Amino acid sequence: MKHFLSAKDMTRAEVLELFELTRQIKEDEVILEKRLFAANLFFEPSTRTKMSFMMAEKKLGIETLDFATESSSMKKGESLYDTVKTFEAIGADMFVIRHEADDWPEELIDQVNVPIFNAGAGKKEHPTQSLLDAYTIYEEYGSFENLNIVICGDILFSRVARSNAELLKKLGAKIFLMAPDDFKDDALDYPYISMDEATKIADVLMLLRIQLERHHASESLLNHYHSLYGLTKTRERNMKKEAIILHPAPVNRGVEIDTSLVECNRSRIFKQMTNGVYVREAIILTTLLKWGIIHENQIKKYNNFNGSRAQTIRCAN
Ligand code: CP
Repeated sequence: MKHFLSAKDMTRAEVLELFELTRQIKEDEVILEKRLFAANLFFEPSTRTKMSFMMAEKKLGIETLDFATESSSMKKGESLYDTVKTFEAIGADMFVIRHEADDWPEELIDQVNVPIFNAGAGKKEHPTQSLLDAYTIYEEYGSFENLNIVICGDILFSRVARSNAELLKKLGAKIFLMAPDDFKDDALDYPYISMDEATKIADVLMLLRIQLERHHASESLLNHYHSLYGLTKTRERNMKKEAIILHPAPVNRGVEIDTSLVECNRSRIFKQMTNGVYVREAIILTTLLKWGIIHENQIKKYNNFNGSRAQTIRCAN
């Protein structure tokens, strides 16, 4: 059975089915009628992804096992694999893992017998982020056909750039990139354009954080980043009337984006975070079903307004 490590494995139809399930979960609260435990193992800092997964788990009725490396036996030299197998042995039904490595140990993938959800792998993949970004765009436009999506910033060191470009292209969007020379990744086969051009053609302007924890950008680049490559108030005025701004956050205010634009009418930055919870609920449900850990008759849907039990929800497998 497959872990949820990448959105690459998903077909276009599967992504759209996931979005339909997300829409249903947004409309009506969903809860599992089975006692389950999730282990959330974060080896890199996180606010959004960790709290969003925890919120999704709690909303589904899954109990959460939190973990801190500093107070764990990893400090005594225990490996990632042995740590995960320990959680599995004591009863974890699923794992959410963020780790600095691009590729995770094969034994972890092959020998862990409950699903692992990738919450960020090095600079390679962040599949739940790409799905929540795509869902936010889908809610806005209802389709990806003929949308110009420009991914801007630290392309080379960003796991979000890679995951998003691939997924959004699969869904039918036209992908463009904008980056200073130091942040370009020539392995990605999409046209690079300037920031001025990006702001003019974008239906979706997706800004990326400079990943200062992964490299040392020159002081001169940092000092001039906002005026040369950032979303300034002047550039924002040149955007298409209906165009929207996305950023996976955390945001370096005044660097990637003028601080006054973070919460402007075009910005969907906090909407992305809200949607992240629902998208993750949908991903967890779909994956647990595929693994046979839950069955459809254990997924109960409640009406958000009066809390009354509605019906069993149907998920695509
Ligand atoms: N977008 C994102 O991954 O944020 P966190 O690092 O806070 O999880």
